[in-house]
Amino acid sequence: MMLDQSQDDSADCSLELSGAQMQQLVDLVMPHLREFLDSLSDQPAWNFDEAASVARSVMEPVPDSGMDPSIVIRRLFEEILSVGVGSAGPGYLAYVPGGGLPDAAVADLIASTVNRFVGLWNGAPGLAQLEVAVLRWFSDIVGYPASAGGFFTSGGSLSIWSAIVTARRCKLQGELSRGTLYTSDQAHHSVAKAAMFAGLPPENVRVVAVDSTFRVRVDAMREQIQQDRRDGFVPFAIVGAAGTTNTGAVDDLAALADLAEAERLWLHLDASYGGFFMLTERGRGLMNAIERADSITLDPHKSLFMPYGTGCLIVRDQSHLRRAHQLRGEYLLAGPEEEFCDLSDISPELTRAARGLRVWLPVMLHGIEPFRRNLDEKLDLTAFATENLRLLNEEIDDELELITEPQLTVVAFRLIRAGLNDEEIDDLNIRLRDAINASRKVLLTPTRLHGRYVIRICILSFRTHRARVEACLAEIRRAVHEV
Ligand SMILES: Cc1ncc(COP(=O)(O)O)c(C=O)c1O
Repeated sequence: MMLDQSQDDSADCSLELSGAQMQQLVDLVMPHLREFLDSLSDQPAWNFDEAASVARSVMEPVPDSGMDPSIVIRRLFEEILSVGVGSAGPGYLAYVPGGGLPDAAVADLIASTVNRFVGLWNGAPGLAQLEVAVLRWFSDIVGYPASAGGFFTSGGSLSIWSAIVTARRCKLQGELSRGTLYTSDQAHHSVAKAAMFAGLPPENVRVVAVDSTFRVRVDAMREQIQQDRRDGFVPFAIVGAAGTTNTGAVDDLAALADLAEAERLWLHLDASYGGFFMLTERGRGLMNAIERADSITLDPHKSLFMPYGTGCLIVRDQSHLRRAHQLRGEYLLAGPEEEFCDLSDISPELTRAARGLRVWLPVMLHGIEPFRRNLDEKLDLTAFATENLRLLNEEIDDELELITEPQLTVVAFRLIRAGLNDEEIDDLNIRLRDAINASRKVLLTPTRLHGRYVIRICILSFRTHRARVEACLAEIRRAVHEV
């Protein structure tokens, strides 16, 4: 039966782009994206000139009728996108860099256009299962057994939230106000935030000290757990780090797994940054015993170079996710047969984007090997940067202090000048960071390590190669002489 809606004069069909109209729109965008991609290495690492006025300019009333697409698209690229941080470019050595593989953007275009519903398996059996298949790849990468499963989230923060909710459900009987969770003073703030979302009183997040390499002191954690039990608290979870934001430190995962086992606690690992280094031999050495964790946060939008909005949670036994997340409305059709599952039964969301496709397509098109090689290259570049910063000491009167030996791809350092007190040294390093960033070839961001202001280089973008690291080192050398 053919229904011809064009006969209905009262219907507004202007939103229903034909294939040709969509192609026209994409054709209009593509020259801008070509120019963007091809000029990435020449673009400034940051630009905040006119940032406030650009931001204010977008605060306009909703238009009643549409505008010329070429004007709208040009404005987007030339004005709105002209300010901010060049987080897709090779000079972005700040925070924990993301990625932005163009293949993933094409996957998003497909996913949004076909707009299949993946929350229920029956809505898109192929696409929903493809997501499960990608999560199986991830489970294999960390060494999880066949019972493992998981789901994609919009990022690490939401994944840690679901992990803590799952831990609470599986390990905490009784009053939430007595439950306690253990992590280190180097944990990302999303751990405490997730615990807050999960309803835990903030003071019940026990922040344990680290050793000189910024790994959590497992002995101190054990003592705290035992003390808490004596005081009538109910310890239920440990959150370890496989790559801290500050220094890239990886906790002693085997010791944490032993402790969690002995104390019967849930072990979650925040491997948002470090997890995909499991693709490399060095990463596997560093993250030995990762597979013993009950759950792991992985962030493909960090160490798998995907666009922002791609996080995931995997658990060693998928049935725990179901226990923590399953709740169904009577308007939902019955779930699929045993072999498959409704993603909404094991995760917080019902309706959401088909996020798995943006990982699947690039990996299918490139294979996993270039990812492995890129991560190995970043480890090598980190060693190269560290060595060169050390050598810089030979030509200066001040001391360029390397805070710790890098474990992943963060180099943390600061300049020490004899005769200055702690506050003056912090000021010196604030000036140093500004001087390094001034040429806009790179963007470095600082942190505070036990109160001290420290500058970090984080090498993780797939577009950052040796030439950019050399440029960064040249900027540091110039700035050190300048301040
Ligand atoms: C170690 C670590 N954990 C968690 C997060 C939070 O992840 P997201 O920003 O994707 O929510 C970050 C973010 O940089 C991180 O570096």
